[in-house]
Amino acid sequence: MPPSRALCHLSPTFHFRAPRGWLNDPCAPGHDVSTGTYHLFYQWNPKSCDWGDITWGRLISSDGLRWKQPDPEPVFKPDQPYDKEGIFTGCLYPTGSNGEPGKLTVFYTSACYLPINWTLNYHRNSAGLGYASSRDGGQTWKKGKNNPILLGEPEGVVVTGFRDPYLAPWSNVDKLQKSESLYGVISGGIRNQGGAVFLYEVSPTNILEWKYLGPILQLPERLSPSTQWDFGINWECAAFMTLSNKSMERDFFILGCEGAKPAPLSENDDSFVGYCLWMSGTLGKSDGLNMSYDFGGLLDHGCFYAPSHYQHPVTGVRILWGWIKEEDVTLAHCEEKGWRGMLSLPREIFLLSISDVVSTLATPLETIEAFHLTASDRDKDTSTVHTLGIRPWRDFHQLRLEGSQRWSSVRCGFEPHVLFQGMHWELWCGITLSASRSTKVGFQIQHNASRSQHTSIYFDMASEEIVVDRSTSNSDPEVGKEILKGHLPLLNIRSDGRDELEKLSMRIFCDGNVVEVFANERFAMSFMVYSDDPSCTGVSCFQIGDVLPASVFDSIEMWQLSNILIE
Ligand code: FRU
Repeated sequence: MPPSRALCHLSPTFHFRAPRGWLNDPCAPGHDVSTGTYHLFYQWNPKSCDWGDITWGRLISSDGLRWKQPDPEPVFKPDQPYDKEGIFTGCLYPTGSNGEPGKLTVFYTSACYLPINWTLNYHRNSAGLGYASSRDGGQTWKKGKNNPILLGEPEGVVVTGFRDPYLAPWSNVDKLQKSESLYGVISGGIRNQGGAVFLYEVSPTNILEWKYLGPILQLPERLSPSTQWDFGINWECAAFMTLSNKSMERDFFILGCEGAKPAPLSENDDSFVGYCLWMSGTLGKSDGLNMSYDFGGLLDHGCFYAPSHYQHPVTGVRILWGWIKEEDVTLAHCEEKGWRGMLSLPREIFLLSISDVVSTLATPLETIEAFHLTASDRDKDTSTVHTLGIRPWRDFHQLRLEGSQRWSSVRCGFEPHVLFQGMHWELWCGITLSASRSTKVGFQIQHNASRSQHTSIYFDMASEEIVVDRSTSNSDPEVGKEILKGHLPLLNIRSDGRDELEKLSMRIFCDGNVVEVFANERFAMSFMVYSDDPSCTGVSCFQIGDVLPASVFDSIEMWQLSNILIE
């Protein structure tokens, strides 16, 4: 084994990282129509590459793509008795406190007692609800005079957590309430009962008054409708939304779940992890407002956490940001480079409905937890699949620089086919899969000439999974090299009486050490890759298994992207 070399730490160019130190959740993303400005904040510890003394840093943008950092210092610091332990996650509401247009309000979690951890007894009122307002389009902000507007969790409830406010209209709840209001939710859990989302009614003309209605969503500890994930014990960063398309409308929650088990679930595994789920349920009103669970899945199959989204007030698109955790390297590695953690790319989430579905490649359709099936209109032997759609935000392609490289009808054999050299790129491909179930088809990235170091991203037809194999990404024993797997059932779709397997369509973004993979508008996986050989810049396509009949990369296109930070 050669002695381990220094890791190649590369600063991202189209992902955001803090100017220095630690970054975690994105906070309060939003668009202010009165000034045409996009706002985005992030949890930041400028003093260290570890979590602690959490402040908010901020970004502003005129297109939601290229961001300015007006000041290199935090905009909100833990400097008041009610938030002295940290300015935790929150949301933006684009009016003043009485609903006045032209002003902005952010709500945040005001932490005044630590530690807060779902494994420990919760000290009452450890976290409350604070706000801050801006009268000048977000140039300057002032914390509220009457903070905290909630001292802490509801009376009489013993919680495992209480934080991360989200405020928005929710017309399906209005219908049940027979009134028009805004709804605020705060995430957490109830001791010995499981994750919970606490619901508040908030008048649009007095957004500082949050009236508690009860838990809108509450599920048993570690409820596991799937073999791949469970709901954990305590929730963070929960947000509701109603998504619709031509075929239906459904209510959804996205949730960060703490105290969940890693996939595949096993009773013998006593480790806990946190991941983000989405779920769709049915709203009802019996003994208070509540939502049941109907179907759901993983929002991302990798290290994306702390989802934060808003609905664009002009286009209606739901834009989602997340925190890309950097947990595969040590604190010392991060102190060496001076920063840790990034924001994800902006993504959009939507209701995806696919009709005329006959079956999947490998998994019985009815057993897929992320699919809700209805009868197809055209052919009664087929179904329409409804699930959460996820893809990069549609405007993101505007960052592509001129001069893409394209390949068509590429049939790779066992020898990987070199396409490109580079560390910051986007790749799109459409693949017609081989009929042979033993095929593995995809890309090697960050490889050197001999391929002694490489990371593979491939679709395994036998298990219907996207696999990321980082076992040979570097030779540093201190760096995590877990092999990641995410289920992507591919659909056989009936068209003109013939059943055909849909193509595999992947978009991969590599930005130095961070990689995000999207597939078929319903799959996302984020992860980190660190090589320790600076010549590891190769990108190749490959396939293994019975090569004949081969899968065909019908087309591959690669771009370089412009920097997202502007002066
Ligand atoms: C999620 C989270 C939030 C909390 C914040 C604290 O990553 O734990 O629940 O508000 O981070 O930094």
